[in-house]
Amino acid sequence: KAHPRLAEIMPSLLRHLHDFAREVGLTVAEWASAIDLINACGKMSDDRRNETQLLCDILGLESLVDEITSKKLATSTTETPSAILGPFYRNDAPLLPNGSSVVHNLTPSVPWYNQAVADSAYVTGRVLSCASGGGARTPLRNAIVDVWHTAPNGLYEQQDTDQPEMNLRGRFATDADGRYSLYCLRPVAYPIPDDGPAGQLLALLDRHPWRPGHIHFIVSAAGHRSLTTQIFDSRDEYINNDSVFAVKEELIVKFVPREGDPKAKWALEYDFVLGPM
Ligand code: DHB
Ligand code: FE
Repeated sequence: KAHPRLAEIMPSLLRHLHDFAREVGLTVAEWASAIDLINACGKMSDDRRNETQLLCDILGLESLVDEITSKKLATSTTETPSAILGPFYRNDAPLLPNGSSVVHNLTPSVPWYNQAVADSAYVTGRVLSCASGGGARTPLRNAIVDVWHTAPNGLYEQQDTDQPEMNLRGRFATDADGRYSLYCLRPVAYPIPDDGPAGQLLALLDRHPWRPGHIHFIVSAAGHRSLTTQIFDSRDEYINNDSVFAVKEELIVKFVPREGDPKAKWALEYDFVLGPM
C-alpha cells in the first residue's frame, strides 16, 4: 500500500523534475555532475556539519518550506514570524538565570576581545500569547527562550576550538511578567561554510556566501507552538542580500545605545508572540 502523502505529492515532483530536464535540455554529463554534487554533500554531512541542508539553504528551499509551514499553521498575523533553524542549533544549552550573559571566558587574550566589548548587548523582552484572539496578547511565564549566535569571528562555538563548550548559547525562562533578559553580543555578518560543495556551487553561480548578522531563537511555552526564528541587525550590509534568504521585515531590529551599564554598550527590546498549539 502506497504511503498516502507520497502518493499525493510524487506525481507533481516527477512532473516538475522531468519538465525541468526537458526545458533546459539536460545532458547525461550534466546530470552526472549533479549526482557528484549531491554525493559530495552527503559525505560531508554529520552532527557537526550538514552540507546537504546547506545546499538546500542556498537554493532557498529551507526558507521556502519555513514560509509554507508558518502560513499553514499560523492562527493570527500577530504571531512573530518564524525563520529557518539553520545547521548550528544544539540541544541542551545551559539554563541560565535572567540577567546573565551567554559570553563565557571573555578575556583580553581573546582575539576578538575589543569587538566583543564594543558590541556587548543587553537583550530583553516578553514572551506573549495571542491564543485568546481579538488582538489580545498575554504574558507567558516560564516560557523558554533558547538563544544562539556566532562570536565576532563569525564562528559558532562548535565550529571554533578556541571557544568554550556552549559559548554564546543559553536558555532563559521568563518570569511572572513573561520577561526574559540576557547579555550577549551584537551579531556580525558571517559567511556560511563555503569550503565544501555548497560553497563550490555558490562560486559557480558567482554568488557570495554571507548572511546578515543574526541571533537565533527557539521560543517555547506550554500549550503553544514553538517558534523557531532569527532577528537581524538593521545596520548590517547584507540585510537585503542573505545567502540563505531568511530575512523577514518584522524580524529586523535596531539596537540602541545603552547608558550607564558597564556590561553592555547596546540594548534591544524584543517581544515574541506565540500562537496556540
Ligand atoms: C545557515 C543558517 C545559519 O543561521 C547560519 O548561521 C549558517 C548557515 C544555513 O541556512 O545554511
Ligand atoms: Fe546562524
